[in-house]
Amino acid sequence: MPVLGIETSCDESAIAIYDGDRGLLAHEIYSQIEVHRQYGGVVPELASRDHIRKTLPLIDQCIKDAGLTAAELTGVAYTKGPGLVGALMVGASIGRSLAYGWGVPAVGIHHMEAHLMVVMLEENHPEFPFLALLVSGGHTLLVDVQGLGQYDILGESLDDAVGEAFDKTAKLLGLPYPGGPELSALAEKGDPGRFTFPRPMVNRPGLEFSFSGLKTFAVNTFHKNDDSEQTKADIAHAFEEAVVDTMLIKCKRALKQTRLTRLVMVGGVSANKRLRKQLKDSLDVEVYYPRREYCTDNGAMAAYLGWLRLSTDQTEPLAIRVKPRWPITDLSI
Ligand code: KG4
Ligand code: ZN
Repeated sequence: MPVLGIETSCDESAIAIYDGDRGLLAHEIYSQIEVHRQYGGVVPELASRDHIRKTLPLIDQCIKDAGLTAAELTGVAYTKGPGLVGALMVGASIGRSLAYGWGVPAVGIHHMEAHLMVVMLEENHPEFPFLALLVSGGHTLLVDVQGLGQYDILGESLDDAVGEAFDKTAKLLGLPYPGGPELSALAEKGDPGRFTFPRPMVNRPGLEFSFSGLKTFAVNTFHKNDDSEQTKADIAHAFEEAVVDTMLIKCKRALKQTRLTRLVMVGGVSANKRLRKQLKDSLDVEVYYPRREYCTDNGAMAAYLGWLRLSTDQTEPLAIRVKPRWPITDLSI
């Protein structure tokens, strides 16, 4: 049952084919970094236009890489939300139309659920239930996961998502877009003792996060000091340390509250080296995360979740629909 997966929710056109018996047969990704870099962030209209240019050729390539013909595909999955409306519309229009043309079912999938489930493609993957930390450019969620589609949100960010805070802080330090990985690389050169940033919201009960104050703290620290490369690295270090520490504290709290014994971390920010190491080293539960290329947006997550959903006969009606805002707790079609 090879299923084609199409991910175009933001600035990556990513395609993959997943087969229930044979696993991942092919995956292709094209990143729009160069398109957006000169603007310092994603320009939605340019993102949509670039998806239009790249998606079909990548699908062609993927089918070839998998050694298949289009007639052998048994379903098409595409990201239906959350994400940029225009970008989503490109993937949904192409995906829904191809499925119609090929006479196979289509399914619109939830981007964050796809981030979550891709961890199951790893040899070392968790059993249900588990606690999940979903950290991306648009979301920061602590979720009690009892099974596929059984999600209870325990906490989320009240303002900036953690990836967004990384990106904004990186921008203020003059780093190129996308800032998260750049800031993290710079943080490695930072002096650990020079600055200490606050750990937001840890002194009050609850599992909510807030990262916008940390970003302001970084701006103020930057303005009070010289703008040498070393100072920037020291600020990056203090920022990353505070973010990671805050997430660790909240994960510990959520594990204690739920008595869950497994933690899964997914989404773009889960590619962060310090976060991966710290959670593994400091928690006395089993910690799982995907390989780094499956943390940031990719096609494998769309194809795999699509295959899972199509296996349970969940299909999209004959309409092209997207949900730019879509809570993971409301997966009804
Ligand atoms: O999941 P993702 O690729 O796209 C969304 O669904 O948003 O996540 C992108 C986010 C960006 O904010 C990016 O800066 C951040 O993940 N990110 C990182 C790292 N790699 C990606 N943040 C910190 N450290 C990293 N190594
Ligand atoms: Zn994502």
